[in-house]
Amino acid sequence: MARELPIVAGAGKPWGVGFLSWAIDVGAVDLALEHGPRAVMLSFGDPSPFVERIREAGAAVIIQVTDLEEARQAVDLGADVIVAQGTESGGHGARHGRSTLPFVPVVVDLAAPVPVLAAGGIADGRGVAAALALGAAGALIGTRFQATAEALVDPSITKAIVEGRGQDTERSSVSDIARGARWPSSKYTARTLGHPSLEPWRGREAELAVTPEAQLAYQAAVARGDAPPLPVWASEAIDLITDLPPAADLVAALATQADTALARAGRD
Ligand SMILES: Cc1cc2nc3c(=O)[nH]c(=O)nc-3n(C[C@H](O)[C@H](O)[C@H](O)COP(=O)(O)O)c2cc1C
Repeated sequence: MARELPIVAGAGKPWGVGFLSWAIDVGAVDLALEHGPRAVMLSFGDPSPFVERIREAGAAVIIQVTDLEEARQAVDLGADVIVAQGTESGGHGARHGRSTLPFVPVVVDLAAPVPVLAAGGIADGRGVAAALALGAAGALIGTRFQATAEALVDPSITKAIVEGRGQDTERSSVSDIARGARWPSSKYTARTLGHPSLEPWRGREAELAVTPEAQLAYQAAVARGDAPPLPVWASEAIDLITDLPPAADLVAALATQADTALARAGRD
């Protein structure tokens, strides 16, 4: 019997599955493909070992990119959709990431006619409208959906997002290193809300990486309940997140707001 996979279920057939390219081998992709997903998204790392088998299985290939070299590679590999991720995004991204506003149109130009989705710092319909104005085919939105009724996150995380401010987020590897995550910290950081237990290590990531006793102390604090088991991955756009709607209502509101914003921008 197939192992259970983190798949977003559609009507019978799974809609899609996403992978961290640095963390997987072809076996993981083959296992996912056995479930017949309509799309497979590859992020963070070299997608080239996986693309051909995804295409042969008839699934769309979505590649998330963080710089122009990755964008060029995604085009050369024949990606069906490219996600251009800016550094405002919540969660992981490039250590030396680009800002969404100038990055997206360059990727749009480079990738045409391949559709590009803008990601990073989009939390309402005005952001969706901005993505469209930049030439993107749409937006990939992460953090905003963590604050929806269906999100499978601890209520403390939702609360922190609703109450948080963009200026309280920062990109860092401290939480990855402290909790012993395998993310390659030379390449990737994560945008999170700060936490007091991580404060002493701000700017001292290299030192933390070679100080196992500090990592163990953090993990002991997690076990005692004094530190959170996971950081609050959060976008710079969290100022715009003030409620906890059902996801379907959120999608409808994003579309209406985007229409309004585009009509306003098009007015003489
Ligand atoms: C809680 C959280 C988890 C994420 N996990 C993944 C992931 O597993 N794979 C991935 O490619 N991107 C992941 N991302 C990043 C998103 O793909 C996307 O780039 C980002 O959320 C867009 O920025 P935004 O948060 O400002 O909307 C995650 C983002 C968040 C907030």
